[in-house]
Amino acid sequence: MDEYSKIAPYYEKLLGKPLYPIRNNIRTFIISQGHRRVVDMCCGTGKQLEMLLGADMDLIGVDNSQAMMSQSRQKDGIRLLQNNAIDIDLPEKGFDAAILTFSLHEKDEVEREILLEKTWNLVRIGGHLLVGDYCRVPLTLRGFMWGKIIIPMVERAAGKNHYLNYSAWMRNGALEQHIGKITTGKKLIARHFNGTVALYSIERK
Ligand SMILES: C[S@@+](CC[C@H](N)C(=O)[O-])C[C@H]1O[C@@H](n2cnc3c(N)ncnc32)[C@H](O)[C@@H]1O
Repeated sequence: MDEYSKIAPYYEKLLGKPLYPIRNNIRTFIISQGHRRVVDMCCGTGKQLEMLLGADMDLIGVDNSQAMMSQSRQKDGIRLLQNNAIDIDLPEKGFDAAILTFSLHEKDEVEREILLEKTWNLVRIGGHLLVGDYCRVPLTLRGFMWGKIIIPMVERAAGKNHYLNYSAWMRNGALEQHIGKITTGKKLIARHFNGTVALYSIERK
């Protein structure tokens, strides 16, 4: 069953604008590093890759939702692969940058670890993983409103399983805790959504 079949037609209409700053930060980082070979794992509608299009870029997006992928515009310079990101056959250490945004929190613990490790293993030495997702809720009024009320409501609306996985993600230390399992070398690029979403870069040494 395609979990995104209902939301896919509205995903960009609803979230395109709020997600723009984080996507733009990813774009700025990748361009500033001179990265060319980029893979977006769980790329959804492919919008992030569209923002990276350029003469020298080699862009691959992977997503298992037919509904989400059907929202992407076919563009020269972007290869979109409809596949489970966990078992897709891509070259290890074959990319300058790998992107993973808003997909870890919706996975159960086993899948999440595999997805994170799989994506990390695609990054070449000297390249970067860019990972953005819900982080620990900041101790501010706005952080509390977003992290404890608004985001949980949105996640609840996404379905029971989705919400259970999101709840476990938050309970177990959110993004900071989970990426701590693959590396200690994360660098914060920016926080978004009143501090409730963090975007980190991690260089493979
Ligand atoms: C919340 S959306 C995020 C999409 C995009 N990364 C973004 O930031 O807009 C999560 C995406 O992950 C995809 N996804 C979830 N599990 C996947 C898997 N095992 N393999 C490939 N795609 C997956 C879903 O189909 C969906 O498009």
